[in-house]
Amino acid sequence: MAAVDGMQTQPPCDRIPEAVRRASPTVWMNPALDATASVLPGLATGRADVDAAVARWQRFAPLLARLFPEEGAGRIDSPLVPLEERLSRDVLDGADGRVLVKADHALPVTGCIKARGGVYEVLAYAEDLAARAGLLTEGRSYAAFADPEFRALFARHVIAVGSTGNLGFSVGLMGRSLGFAVEVHMSHDAKAWKKQRLRELGARVVEHRGDYGAAVAAARGAFAGRADAHFVDDEDSVDLFLGYAAAALDLQRQLAESGIAVGPAQPLFVYLPCGVGGAPGGVAFGLKLLFGDAVHPVFVEPVASPCMLVQLAAGLERTVSVYDVGLDNRTAADGLACASASMLVARTLEKLVAAVVTVPDDALYRWLRVMWTEAGLRLEPSAAAGFAAAGRFAATLPAAVGAAATHVIWTTGGAHLPAEEFEAALARG
Ligand SMILES: Cc1ncc(COP(=O)(O)O)c(C=O)c1O
Repeated sequence: MAAVDGMQTQPPCDRIPEAVRRASPTVWMNPALDATASVLPGLATGRADVDAAVARWQRFAPLLARLFPEEGAGRIDSPLVPLEERLSRDVLDGADGRVLVKADHALPVTGCIKARGGVYEVLAYAEDLAARAGLLTEGRSYAAFADPEFRALFARHVIAVGSTGNLGFSVGLMGRSLGFAVEVHMSHDAKAWKKQRLRELGARVVEHRGDYGAAVAAARGAFAGRADAHFVDDEDSVDLFLGYAAAALDLQRQLAESGIAVGPAQPLFVYLPCGVGGAPGGVAFGLKLLFGDAVHPVFVEPVASPCMLVQLAAGLERTVSVYDVGLDNRTAADGLACASASMLVARTLEKLVAAVVTVPDDALYRWLRVMWTEAGLRLEPSAAAGFAAAGRFAATLPAAVGAAATHVIWTTGGAHLPAEEFEAALARG
């Protein structure tokens, strides 16, 4: 690689491994990975921000319990499910280690990890509006956010979002529950049933012929500068990021309750399906704050849409999309069909992501079927990505790491899949 006066002269695409450009499954070890303690102080976001996000979730627990009484006591969190030994071994392709599933595919309220960010950002916006309108009096329970005077305020405001489907649903459901007008801009690959359920909520769905990035850009442009509107920017929102990051504390508590230690000799590997990067980025960031170098976030992307891998490998001096390296961004994992990564996430996680693993669609379908028949997990293709990656990643680990390691596969959506969609996906496995 040639460098002149410290400037990078190699074209970014040349830095992308040949196998990635051929859409071959790849395990990419992040060469920029650095010691957590040296990276975190240089970032704009830190522990205090995540603690503030956790506190906001807690303030809103009475509201969530009021709006969704059947969904638990106001907490949006999922169980941590241990896999039995034989299945763990299959997931790790014969390697030693304990495997648990962080079951966000069955997350309360929306059945998808995107609720952690999307619901959180709607709540943050609602809180800001209510504060400015003088509705937040000392000691008043946040359950009042569902009262008519709050709803009347929210009804005068629009929340807009660009989405492949699941973020739109999370924002749409929460926004509509509070009385906001909601407009969801969706890409050509968004599933018809995801559009339909949004319309049933009373959200306006705007369909775009372009991809996810085009839908986001159109929505951003349409709502820029409007005082009565809030645009949830999947590519660039700190609130979304913090909503996801708060999940790390849930995992920390659940690991402790299960008696699972995490430390230098007991590494934690966490497999996170990655689309634009917000959800995996936020969770990985939160985990790094809590576990430092003992946690190894592994992002998982479809072979046709490895936008985060491409961006991190190319370097952050300029944006690079999967189209730039000859890939077509066509994948069965609709939630992961993003051509360009969030630069907010790429910059924040540049030195914290351990690896990115790319997986083909047939492996997603295969694991979707296996996890249904062997463990009763109802996943959508995107959510099966971690299973398709763990064995290949575990094969790169020294044997000595094996037995003491914990692998957490984050499943990210699927519980609300309509029966016919799920049956069709099962049939392809
Ligand atoms: C089911 C599912 N998993 C994972 C993701 C990835 O999240 P992000 O796009 O924030 O990387 C998405 C995004 O929509 C999704 O729908």
